[in-house]
Amino acid sequence: MTETISDFFLSPEFIPDPQPYFDYLRGQGPVVREPHHGVVAVTGYEETLEVLKDGEQWSACVSVGGPFPPLPFTPDGDDIREQIAAHRTQMPLHEHMVAMDPPNHTRARSLLSRLLTPKRLKANEDFLLGLADSQLDEFVDAGECEFLTAYSKPFSLLAVADLLGVPREDHPEFRAALANPHLMGNIEGQGAPINPLQFLDEKFSAYIEDRRAQPRDDVLTELALATYPDGSQPAVTDVVRTASFLFGAGQETTAKLLGAAMRILCERPELQQQLRDDPQLATVFIEETLRVESPVKTQFRLAVRSTTLAGVDIPAGTVVMVSAAATNRDPDRFDGPHEFRLDRKNVREQIAFGRGVHTCPGAPLARVEGRVSLERILARINDITLDERFHGPAGRRIFTYEPTYILRGLTDLHLRFTPAR
Ligand code: HEM
Repeated sequence: MTETISDFFLSPEFIPDPQPYFDYLRGQGPVVREPHHGVVAVTGYEETLEVLKDGEQWSACVSVGGPFPPLPFTPDGDDIREQIAAHRTQMPLHEHMVAMDPPNHTRARSLLSRLLTPKRLKANEDFLLGLADSQLDEFVDAGECEFLTAYSKPFSLLAVADLLGVPREDHPEFRAALANPHLMGNIEGQGAPINPLQFLDEKFSAYIEDRRAQPRDDVLTELALATYPDGSQPAVTDVVRTASFLFGAGQETTAKLLGAAMRILCERPELQQQLRDDPQLATVFIEETLRVESPVKTQFRLAVRSTTLAGVDIPAGTVVMVSAAATNRDPDRFDGPHEFRLDRKNVREQIAFGRGVHTCPGAPLARVEGRVSLERILARINDITLDERFHGPAGRRIFTYEPTYILRGLTDLHLRFTPAR
């Protein structure tokens, strides 16, 4: 079967449900070489942690794309540290922390510590409560919505905007430019499409330069004046890059989490009242959603030195795929792994936010976004169901997922509901 199974990376058949493929891989062992691109796939929980926690042995330089594009060099010998260093700038996303290794990674990540303090997160949570309600105000009375466009995308976008201290008066402009890029024309109505990265680059360069010239008592000033651990001040471009990356990393992922959570609530309607009766359950509900529907399906690492993992030989230069989607369903770690269970005792062991030095720094925010959204949505609307005009009748549901091997998320989710009076 190894020879006949399709190409996980390029075949559309794994998009609606990748789990049969992961089960198949796991059946071969926790660490297996996939036949099409020579990628070593890790589906075992322990082995996944071993990879993610060892940044010396496993480089993050291929973190996002994995086997694509191919390495810009031919690995030579049992230790390719110097080859990676020599070619790093030819690799995708090399300027972003997600693809860096220590010590550069440590330096880039230190800029975030100013933004993710408990005080800042608390202020952000207060903003999110109001934001959830104002999003809901836009569509509750209609009794139906396409949830991703109406709620999860703008909500997760403005959550990051507020975290970064984007002034409230600029939020509509950010939403117009970034919340639904595929729907976008020019925000000034002049016809040209907006390039989201260019938009962010221009906005944040202006904010940072302004705050460096005239510091104020605001979050953008803190970001603008943040220094590296050695006391030096980063170039404006480095601060702008950090800010832009937070939008990239924080919006789509959380929007996908919220979409998955709503789909589950529709398919298990008894959970809607259970969560209303006991709001504490929202936290575990989100955690279990992250486990069964991990929005980041795969991450990749490159073997820096030749080694073995679970008895499998891994030459230096091998691309290794670790997958939260697979690992979070490892039956040796999670009983009945394919079932959504609200009373799962070890749900916090799920690894949707990764592990090791690259562990998602936005995890606290994403969790709060999930909890606050559930709380406000369930307070404002009742009897939430799937709209059968789009998703078909029970037993013959149709859902479309975004065609990517990296993320897992619905393309659309049409709901019907009754406004709470
Ligand atoms: C449900 C939502 C989210 C999920 C599932 C998620 C998942 C992940 C994962 C798995 C990684 C590690 C990648 C790797 O090791 O190669 C990561 C990194 C990252 N995430 Fe998230 N994330 C989410 C939300 C957010 C949010 C809201 C933000 C920011 C506000 C954010 C910012 C980042 C950043 C900056 C990194 C890179 C960290 C580093 O390389 O050190 N994420 N995320």
